[in-house]
Amino acid sequence: MQTTHDSHRLHQALKQWQQQGLSVAFVPTMGNLHDGHLLLVKEAKQRADKVVVSIFVNPMQFSAGEDLSNYPRTLEQDSQALFELGADLLFTPTPELLYPNGLENQTFVEVPGISDKYCGASRPGHFRGVATVVCKLFNLVRPDVAIFGRKDYQQLAVIRAMVRDLNLPVEVIGIDTVRAADGLALSSRNGYLNEEQRMRAPALKLTLDWAAEQLQFGMNAEEVEQLANQKLEQAGFEPDYFHVCHADSLEKAQPEDKNLVILAAAQLGPARLIDNLRVDLN
Ligand code: PAJ
Repeated sequence: MQTTHDSHRLHQALKQWQQQGLSVAFVPTMGNLHDGHLLLVKEAKQRADKVVVSIFVNPMQFSAGEDLSNYPRTLEQDSQALFELGADLLFTPTPELLYPNGLENQTFVEVPGISDKYCGASRPGHFRGVATVVCKLFNLVRPDVAIFGRKDYQQLAVIRAMVRDLNLPVEVIGIDTVRAADGLALSSRNGYLNEEQRMRAPALKLTLDWAAEQLQFGMNAEEVEQLANQKLEQAGFEPDYFHVCHADSLEKAQPEDKNLVILAAAQLGPARLIDNLRVDLN
């Protein structure tokens, strides 16, 4: 596996593969890789001849006061895991390469509407940072296929909308959430939890399961949301949002909607956890 932070070295490798007629799958990450990330890499291997993984903790998607400086950085471990999985190239761009003029003088990509609610409302500018960096990485790597996790359901919707609206020549694939045995969605931010908080953390997924069941039984969405927020508070979370939405548009679910997703975010001690669950009422 080749590792480079240099765009010329990246282009050399890509050019060689292109000359050989090989396809490229791309997995963008912020590192501190866990089994969720690694499943994306495994999927990438199935989807193309060569796999590029990027690790870049993107300052543009963190607001002031968020965990940019504490975000776990474990490059050596990550690199070993990717090598063992058979990734072909690890791209570790520097902030100077991606933001040569700093974050202030930066052309950006904004996906209005879908970026403004849920996580976008709680983290203003977050999805502008995500869309901008993913667009830049797509331009550098020029992949045929890019793999993302459904764990970040709204992020995936933002990226799909960007790819569609800007006619970017890449196929976007979404992969199911990988969970710990007790149901907690794997996340780099789980490492912020102490032992006691980690024991409480599965309540987020349990509440999603409970909510899905109530929707199946016919409880209306508003009531489900209200009771779910209470359950999360009782479990020691500070709920940020808990919404029943249309699975594609992410608009608030209407009574006739059958294809739903429940999106949830809640603070547990130092960690902001997010999770979601698809519900098919057909
Ligand atoms: P990061 O949080 O490192 O996640 C990288 C990819 O892994 C994303 O597509 C995310 O949805 C996926 N992922 C995370 N946890 C997962 C899990 N438990 N199961 C399955 N997939 C999971 O998301 C980002 O980085 C950044 O916003 C990025 C897209 C790289 C842009 O900076």
